[in-house]
Amino acid sequence: MIGRIADGATETSARLILLKDLEKEITAEELVLVYNGGEAKPTNLILGVIREGLGKNEFLSYTSYKPDVAYMRHGGEPSGSREVYSFTFKPIGMITDDGIEPNRTIIQPRSPVYMIDDSENPLEWLVKGREVTWLNAHLDRHPSWRVPVDIEFIPYHVGVYGSTGSGKSWLTRNVLIPAYVEAGYRCIVLDWSGTDYAPYYGGRRGCEVVGIEEIALDADTIIYYLQDKAKSLVKNDNVKDAFEEYVDAWPSKVEEKLRSSQGDKEAAAEQILEELKEYVNSRINNIGRADYRASAERVARRVFRHLKAEDILPLLGIKKIDELMRKAEENEVTILDMGGAIAEAKLSLFHSLSKIVYRKMERGQDVNIALIIDEAPQYAPWDPRGIQAETSTMIKNLAALGRKKKLNLTLISQGIRGEIGINAAVRRNLNTHFFGRIHPLDAAGEGGASDWLSPYGVRTDQLLLLKPGHFYFSGVMNPSPIPLLITFKPEEEL
Ligand SMILES: Nc1ncnc2c1ncn2[C@@H]1O[C@H](COP(=O)(O)OP(=O)(O)O)[C@@H](O)[C@H]1O
Ligand SMILES: [Mg+2]
Repeated sequence: MIGRIADGATETSARLILLKDLEKEITAEELVLVYNGGEAKPTNLILGVIREGLGKNEFLSYTSYKPDVAYMRHGGEPSGSREVYSFTFKPIGMITDDGIEPNRTIIQPRSPVYMIDDSENPLEWLVKGREVTWLNAHLDRHPSWRVPVDIEFIPYHVGVYGSTGSGKSWLTRNVLIPAYVEAGYRCIVLDWSGTDYAPYYGGRRGCEVVGIEEIALDADTIIYYLQDKAKSLVKNDNVKDAFEEYVDAWPSKVEEKLRSSQGDKEAAAEQILEELKEYVNSRINNIGRADYRASAERVARRVFRHLKAEDILPLLGIKKIDELMRKAEENEVTILDMGGAIAEAKLSLFHSLSKIVYRKMERGQDVNIALIIDEAPQYAPWDPRGIQAETSTMIKNLAALGRKKKLNLTLISQGIRGEIGINAAVRRNLNTHFFGRIHPLDAAGEGGASDWLSPYGVRTDQLLLLKPGHFYFSGVMNPSPIPLLITFKPEEEL
C-alpha cells in the first residue's frame, strides 16, 4: 500500500496522498490500483496512472510569514511534520471479469491505493476481448510490462512527434515497424535523407533497400517535374503537348540512351535533353498558323533556357514502380532511400507510388501496407503549394480510404502543428499519437500536444524534458484510454 485517496474525488479523477517517506520512491506515471471503498470489501478495483505530483508544507508558505519561515531564514531546519505529498490519480478503468470497463463509480476518499507487483503486467488486463499485438516497448520503469496495441486500429493511422534527436526514427525502427510486420502489414518506408533507415536494413532478411535513382517515374510525374523546373511549360498548349508526347515513351528512351552511353548517366541525360529539344522544335515547326507557331517558339525557348541536363538526371531510373510495389508486397520491409535526390523528385516518387496504392484500394482490395513517412511535413506541410499540394491531398485521400482497406499511414514529424507541423487536414486523420520530447512551440496553443495530453493530467512542461526514446502513447491503438509513457530498449544496443 502506498497511500490513500484524498477528499474531493470524482469518478474520473482523484488525488492520492502518499504514506510517509514514499515520496522518495513513488514517481509520476506509475500504474496503481485503488481498492475503492476499503481493502476488506471494495466496491471495485480501479486501475489508473498517477501524475501531477505536489508537495505541500503549510508551515513553509512563501507568501506569508510564519514561525517556521523565520526559523528557516536563519538557517534552521523547519518541521516536516505537516508535509503532504500527493499525486493526481487518473483512472484507466475498473477491473471486471471481462477486462477493464470505464469507471462510473465515485472514487471514495480514504480508499487504499496499492502498487502493482512487477511480475504481473496490468496492461494484460486491458486486452481482453481485443485482438492485440505486443510492442517491443514497455511502460517506463517497468521493462517487463510490454505495451499492447489494438490491431483493429492500425489502419486509423499514426503520428510520431518529437524534436530532432528525441528518438522518432529509433522508435519507428525498433518498435513500430516490427509491430506492423507482426500484425501482417508490409512496411514501405520513405527515407527522406537515406540516413535513418536505409543503412539499417540493407542485407536483412525480408528487407530491401531501393535507391530513388533506380526507379522509373510515371509520365504524369515526369511532366509535373519538368513543369516545376520550367514553369513556362504550361503557358503554351502546343509546347506542353509536344513534351507529353515525348515523355510518353520515356522509359524506352532512357534505356536506349543508357545503352548507347554505356551507362554514363550524365551523357545519357545530355542526349535526352538534346533529343527532347529537337522533338519539341520539330513539332512547333509543323504548326500551321504563324502566330501560334511564334508564340510556341517563344515559350519553348524559355523552357529550354531553364532546363538543364542535371534536371534530367533524377529521371533516369528504369525500375518500374509497379514492379517495386509488387516486390514490396513480398518483402516485410522496403526502404526507399531518397538521399541525394532533389525534393521534387522525392515528392514525385511518393506521388506515383501512392497512386498505385490508391487505385488498388479503389478497386476494393485490402492492401495490408504500412506506409511510413519520415519528415512528413515535407509531403504535407501546413501551407502546401505546388507538388506539395498534390501530395498533401493524396495523403488525405489515402488516409480516408485506408481505414477500410487496411492501409496504415505513419507520419513522423518534428512538430505537431503550425510551420513545423503536419498539414491540419492530414493531421485530423491520425488517430494514434506518439509524443516525444517536443518543441516549445508545440507545448501550448490550439492543436498542440497540450490539447491531447493535458486532459489526462500530463503537463506539457514534462514533454519538453522527456529523454530520447520516451514517448506518450495516446489514441485508439492504445487499449488504455489514458495515454501512457512508454520507452524501449533499442535493438542496436542489445
Ligand atoms: N530507446 C532509446 N534508448 C536510448 N537512447 C535512445 C533511444 N531512442 C533514441 N535514443 C537516442 O536518441 C538519438 C536520436 O534518435 P533518432 O531516432 O535519430 O531521433 P529523431 O529521429 O527524433 O531525430 C539516437 O541516436 C540514440 O542515441
Ligand atoms: Mg529521424
